[in-house]
Amino acid sequence: MGTGHAVPEKLLTNADLEKIVDTSDEWIKTRTGMEVRHIAEEGEKTSDFAAEATRRALEDAGLDAKDLDVIIVASVTGDMQFPSTACFVQDKLGAKQAAAFDIAAACSGFIYGLSLANGMIATGQAETVAVVGAELLSRITDYTDRSTCVLFGDGAGAVIVRKTDDPERGIIDTYLRSDGSLYELLYMPGGGTNVPFSHESVDKKLFYLRMEGREVFKYAVTAMGEAAELILKRNDLTGDDVDLLLPHQANLRIIDATARRVKIPPERVYVNIQKYGNTSAASIPIALDEARKEGRLQDGQLALMVAFGAGFTWGSALVRF
Ligand code: UT7
Repeated sequence: MGTGHAVPEKLLTNADLEKIVDTSDEWIKTRTGMEVRHIAEEGEKTSDFAAEATRRALEDAGLDAKDLDVIIVASVTGDMQFPSTACFVQDKLGAKQAAAFDIAAACSGFIYGLSLANGMIATGQAETVAVVGAELLSRITDYTDRSTCVLFGDGAGAVIVRKTDDPERGIIDTYLRSDGSLYELLYMPGGGTNVPFSHESVDKKLFYLRMEGREVFKYAVTAMGEAAELILKRNDLTGDDVDLLLPHQANLRIIDATARRVKIPPERVYVNIQKYGNTSAASIPIALDEARKEGRLQDGQLALMVAFGAGFTWGSALVRF
């Protein structure tokens, strides 16, 4: 029904990163496609951007916060361990009727959230659901590690999903998968009950994201390609039927490989990685909002979304707008 996004004003360019670590604009651009990221200032919180993105999505949908039955926030960088960031969003919006909860599926979080919203609506538990992807990855990024710090950005995107009787429109299908055996390729060791906060764990930098980029790359290419292919096949569709592919924005080379796998040409693939870097759960809803506002995804058109992230988790969604 509506989309919105909100990102911090402060920018971190490749040139800025050249001054912090041993890297180059050339390396970052050719290996990832990234040029700029938005980074939160001190005092700005994940819920600030999540709430603003949801407010904009509600406005776009012509709805009010009191219309929301459920707020789902997908994030691995919430304001606090608890309560959920969704509860802060509920309060900021004054969404008095809404249930609110977070889900942690890392970069696949938005697809997982969309699937949940679809299920809650289909089973009559809700009529109007906000699905929000929101991250401040800069807060868990080690800016002395060049292999990760050039990659991540902050921001939030939101969509409003609502019950419809129109059989031609809506969430056609979602596909979700996971493989926890590979978690050590992309994770943050500290902060949970396994490695609680202590002077020692802070000194060991256990509260920063860690990633084996090359390994993750290989799994991401395979899993995103499979997720895109499978969901099309089981709905008797091909890449020709897709008006816009909205892949998770982690690496331009992964995006290109995914598009090639389902034979979707570049003009039908949405890419904004150059402007935001990897914003994890926020990347697809930010892309979706931009695509809608730019007229690249119009009513009646078919969108294919596909993501891969820590866990590992991955999945895809087919939506007719
Ligand atoms: O969003 C969730 C999922 N995440 C992803 O999907 C990310 C997946 N991984 C990737 O996108 C890529 O693996 C990276 C962009 C992280 C890295 O690109 P790569 O082409 O896989 O590079 P690499 O890790 O194989 O490193 C190649 C070289 C290494 O040097 P040597 O060993 O060949 O001498 C690295 O030390 O590049 C070096 N390197 C850098 N050089 C300049 C690593 N980071 C940098 C850097 N600047 N920032």
